[in-house]
Amino acid sequence: ETSENGKIRKLYKETTKLYHHILVNTVLGEPALEYLHKRGINDDLIEEFEIGFAPENNILEAFFKEQKLYDYQILRKSGLFIERQSTELVERFNGRVMFPIRDTSGQTIAYSGRLLEKRDDAPKYLNSPETAIFNKRKVLFNFDKAKGIIRREKEAILFEGFMDVIAAYRSGIKNGIASMGTSLTDEQIYALDRVTSHLVICYDGDNAGQNATKRALEIIEPTGKFSLEVIKIPEKLDPDEFTKKYGSEKFVELARNDRKSPLEFYLSYYEQDKNLNNENNQLEYIRDILQEIAKVRDPLEQDLYLNRLAQRFNVAKENLDSQLKQIREKIF
Ligand code: CTP
Ligand code: MN
Ligand code: MN
Ligand code: MN
Ligand code: MN
Repeated sequence: ETSENGKIRKLYKETTKLYHHILVNTVLGEPALEYLHKRGINDDLIEEFEIGFAPENNILEAFFKEQKLYDYQILRKSGLFIERQSTELVERFNGRVMFPIRDTSGQTIAYSGRLLEKRDDAPKYLNSPETAIFNKRKVLFNFDKAKGIIRREKEAILFEGFMDVIAAYRSGIKNGIASMGTSLTDEQIYALDRVTSHLVICYDGDNAGQNATKRALEIIEPTGKFSLEVIKIPEKLDPDEFTKKYGSEKFVELARNDRKSPLEFYLSYYEQDKNLNNENNQLEYIRDILQEIAKVRDPLEQDLYLNRLAQRFNVAKENLDSQLKQIREKIF
């Protein structure tokens, strides 16, 4: 790696310590600390994830000067600032709780900063821009801590948000990871493939999360590298909200014992906003499910679900079989 990258890494290392210090030890950090405590993120978790706070006023330039790390060109490229008129640097993060994003080796390479309160003029989360050391497509939140546990437990659990990863971690589920608010990339799948062959998707229970689950399955399944399961959080909650409402034990129970196969997920996914007493809806539903059954490799699993469909809608299995053959001819 170039010396420039090393310098940028050093900035992130020192900034992470500074933000963390401000959160934990200063008056400026008090509202943020209270916010985190209210969300159930206790001091141990704050240490574990080195969470910090970026205050409203600009502090970094003076801090870097004092640390003898001031180099305008490096600061400009670091992603910690926004440049004005090619002469002035303004800090990117103001008044946000700072979650360090680390690379596989555990070094901070970016941040996601959360507002304490909802505001109309700014996004809830602000992420670092891509830099020489931060490629969003490659990063999985918590992968550095989780990879050993993923190997040992022979599975990784994918969450939608890093607050969910932290909530699961607090409940003792430490093989959780999240992509940075985007759908999974080839690079992330490649990184996962090196440590496990079983993935569990546990996205938010709301419609956006369920759509994202379908998309993730569509990305992962064709690689043929993983067996897959889906955890559905009820009441449209996300894992963090579920834990807050029902407690850690219930969440662990759900995450360990209430898993669905991808096909079972599709059975309930396609049932959303359909009234299956209506015949047109029934036909549409059967076609949707047949499309998914057609993608299944295991003939026994195919047969199982064909039987279930046939029984449930009281149609001849031979009809479903021939429909399935037609679909398969189109796909393969
Ligand atoms: N996200 C983002 N920018 C936003 C909203 C979301 O980058 N304005 C990303 C974040 O990485 C977030 C993920 O999308 O973790 C999931 O979004 P959401 O479910 O809305 O956030 P939560 O993780 O539930 O965050 P919180 O509980 O703090 O509201
Ligand atoms: Mn500390
Ligand atoms: Mn969501
Ligand atoms: Mn969420
Ligand atoms: Mn949430």
